[in-house]
Amino acid sequence: MNNILNKNLDLKGKKVLLRVDLNVPMKNGSITETSRIEKIIPTINLLVEKQAKIIIMSHIGRPKGKVVEGMSLKPISEKLSFLLKKKVLFNKDIINENTLLEINKISNGSIIMLENIRFNEGEKTNDKDFSKKMSTLGDIYINDAFSCSHRSHASVEGITKYMPSYFGLQITEEINALKKLTSEIKKPVSLIIGGSKISTKIKIINNLIKKFNNIIIVGGMANTMLKHTGASVGKSICEYECASLIKEIIENSKKYNCDITLPKDVIVSKSLNGNGKEKNINEIDENDMILDIGSKTISSIETTINKSKTVLWNGPAGYFENPNFQNGTKKILELISQKTKNDKIFSVAGGGETVAAINKFNKFDSFTFVSTAGGAFLEYLEGKTLPGIKALN
Ligand code: 3PG
Repeated sequence: MNNILNKNLDLKGKKVLLRVDLNVPMKNGSITETSRIEKIIPTINLLVEKQAKIIIMSHIGRPKGKVVEGMSLKPISEKLSFLLKKKVLFNKDIINENTLLEINKISNGSIIMLENIRFNEGEKTNDKDFSKKMSTLGDIYINDAFSCSHRSHASVEGITKYMPSYFGLQITEEINALKKLTSEIKKPVSLIIGGSKISTKIKIINNLIKKFNNIIIVGGMANTMLKHTGASVGKSICEYECASLIKEIIENSKKYNCDITLPKDVIVSKSLNGNGKEKNINEIDENDMILDIGSKTISSIETTINKSKTVLWNGPAGYFENPNFQNGTKKILELISQKTKNDKIFSVAGGGETVAAINKFNKFDSFTFVSTAGGAFLEYLEGKTLPGIKALN
């Protein structure tokens, strides 16, 4: 892999466009979890040491090519500055004629962060002209965002066609760890999948069936499966447009002998801030929101984890931000953690929400490896070549 540790790479005075993933969880304008910011610090420190001019590019949220208030990277640039103990300038405009003028003002070893790259129209569409325009802002491009490398976006893929491009330190570490996992995977292998980003992940499940012995579905993903297999999910988050896909998932699970587990019981409430009540799946009424898994479901997850040699986890089991709905996520963490410690199984967790849960319950050292990536982690497990990685290879 051609990464920035390459000894022949002289970066002194060079303008380095550094793509990172600062898509961190936020509540009322404040950052609630900083792992993704902390993870990029070694790369930035190395670039500072090499006296590069560092131009940070990232996205947060899905603003669809428009400026969206509340999706600015400004608070994140301030947090990065605090963690680095170093000034981080911020360019609040979308990319225009002035951006290069601002970049040209910075000195060797200093840092400027650009505003949310997804505010630009050509980013998500991987527009050729936008990629070219972006490339004129620097001399060298570095991708240190493994968690965005499954996106064929301009700042991940398009830009690499127009300038010398390298891998950063964090992405190198993630790729090496996941390569080891996929080449040495020990069966039975179980995947626990949950969280709220349903639409993209539901397609991935269908492909993962062929690779895993057990798939345990929790969180918003489970609501979607339950809804399409005849259960009522009340007012819970759920994807309605995927009936044929769910049918295919169920057929494929039989064909490939993959055991799919859905919740047998859940914790419901009338609101996110409310108290929880345990109910069986057939007891959900139309005003209920499913916000966690119940005790019978936790027991069946325990049975599956206990017979696994590899456990992969992406996506929490419920709305763990409210302590009334954190039990399922916390219990999954404890079960994987115990099993990793006692039986030395291989355990990997990945994803923004998952990492936030691991941090909340202080379990960072409980896994063989924790990836910052969610969607990219799952697509890598599917065996797909990620566009951002292919572009640099
Ligand atoms: C993530 O959080 O997984 C990455 O930042 C990618 O975000 P996206 O799913 O909005 O592309």
